[in-house]
Amino acid sequence: MSRKNKNKKSLAEKADKYSLYQQSVQSPEHEVEFFVQAYKDAYRKNPTMLREDFCGTFAICCEWVKLKNSNQALGVDLDPEPLDWGRQNNLAKLTTSQQKRVRLVEQDVRKRNRPQADVLAAQNFSFWIFKTRAEVVEYFKIARSNLKSQGIMVMDMMGGSDCFIEDHTDKRTIVKGRKGFKYYWYQARFDPISHDTSFYISFKFPDGSKLKNAFEYHWRFWSTPEIQEMLAEAGFRESHVYWEETDEDGEDTGEFLKVDTAENAPSWISYIVAVK
Ligand SMILES: C[S@@+](CC[C@H](N)C(=O)[O-])C[C@H]1O[C@@H](n2cnc3c(N)ncnc32)[C@H](O)[C@@H]1O
Repeated sequence: MSRKNKNKKSLAEKADKYSLYQQSVQSPEHEVEFFVQAYKDAYRKNPTMLREDFCGTFAICCEWVKLKNSNQALGVDLDPEPLDWGRQNNLAKLTTSQQKRVRLVEQDVRKRNRPQADVLAAQNFSFWIFKTRAEVVEYFKIARSNLKSQGIMVMDMMGGSDCFIEDHTDKRTIVKGRKGFKYYWYQARFDPISHDTSFYISFKFPDGSKLKNAFEYHWRFWSTPEIQEMLAEAGFRESHVYWEETDEDGEDTGEFLKVDTAENAPSWISYIVAVK
């Protein structure tokens, strides 16, 4: 092998894991649209102040301030690495006026901050890191106090029998072609007693190279009724489930509607909205 080839980096070595993550699992435009819809459902007016707990690269904060000139966002995460990546890549793409309306704090989400928010979002199942009822209720109580008197907390949930299959991988092509990549969601473990679960995200590239276990999560698999009971225990006045609407062919439409009951599905994603 020539020196030149030896020094050539694989696509995995050159890849940026946060960029791949955002392209694979996030859709901030849809998220912020949903937050406005859910807030209007609760209070018949528009929200302006967003708090994004577990914000990582805070893509949602950045999308929020783009939506309206009066919108402000507070992003909270305890890891400086994704926050720095977000500053260099997401915040840098905003106008100066938009940048001024994003505030970031490197801290535990279980801290009180001012100003209080209209919408507090905890996305991508992040609060499942809290594995006991006591921890979740404590977090929900603090989250509630971080909301204005008219505020909502929004979190996403996943479920369905497919989620409990161990040693199971879901694969999606995110970008096609020579410059593309594939996304792998690996469900490694599910303990039926404790509901302890482990998930891993990996990426594979057209040259065959892999970014294995770029992200890993060790969570408790919580259910919808448990979360709604804990929200009530933490003092939220009510909570609602928003379920994804399907078209006449049974395909997901990307629209979420408030429901009291839903048809069982092998794999689903929903939102829970708690009203202060
Ligand atoms: C699954 S990632 C979610 C990132 C982003 N919210 C998203 O939707 O893709 C979880 C994030 O939560 C952060 N995190 C975990 N525990 C935390 C805590 N107690 N307080 C603040 N951030 C925490 C991690 O640093 C990580 O960035």
